[in-house]
Amino acid sequence: MSKRRPLIAGNWKMYKTIPEAVEMSKKLVSLLKEPTDVEVMIAPSYVLLSAVAQEIEGSGIFLGAQDLFWEKEGAYTGAVSAEMIVSAGCKYVIIGHSERRQYFGETDHSVNLKIRAAINSGLAPILCIGETENQRESDETFSVLDKQIKKGLKDFSYDELEKLVLAYEPVWAIGTGKTATSQQAQEIHKFLRNILEKTFGNSLAKNTRILYGGSVKPENIAELMAMDDVDGALVGGASLKADVFSGIVYF
Ligand code: 13P
Repeated sequence: MSKRRPLIAGNWKMYKTIPEAVEMSKKLVSLLKEPTDVEVMIAPSYVLLSAVAQEIEGSGIFLGAQDLFWEKEGAYTGAVSAEMIVSAGCKYVIIGHSERRQYFGETDHSVNLKIRAAINSGLAPILCIGETENQRESDETFSVLDKQIKKGLKDFSYDELEKLVLAYEPVWAIGTGKTATSQQAQEIHKFLRNILEKTFGNSLAKNTRILYGGSVKPENIAELMAMDDVDGALVGGASLKADVFSGIVYF
């Protein structure tokens, strides 16, 4: 079976100053020297991107941003465009993280605009979707995910989405220490791949990487990665320490 190239991505969220980020990057570069089939990406906050880009240059580690604003430029105080992110050295951008949805008013519509901006600039968008604990308990998981994916990717054609990465992050598993079991993750990932297939065709479904996120750590990564439809992880807390994150990369 041709599994897709795994991607282990670290979402640093709102952690680290510039000196801390530089120190962490130096450690990561030295710990991730062993060859691996896994693609590695780290997504520090905007203000850290340039400093981290310098440290990881030539290391094979990719850089990502945690969000973007969809306009090219203009009077949008506090916002950062796709072009700015590209110019800082990013290849990836995380879009629609549940924390953006929860605290910053992100909607499926704004997610859709952001994915368009990412793709127009050549960035690979990592579209995050996931159900809350309440939604899971009221059996809405599948309908919530179906809606998030279809609205987030509305009006795209399959050939525009070749760089797309999906991240399934059940909200109840983020930062809580509660991980979805590998069987739960596999069930959802398969469901998501079926939606991709029905909406965009077999080839996109087969090639799109679907990451799992939510309390991933060195102790549970191997079990998750053993699942057919789990192609990597989006890691929060455990991506903030170089030795722990490298333990996940070399699962
Ligand atoms: P944790 O790994 O801290 O649960 O966070 C997951 C996440 O939100 C990654 O984007």
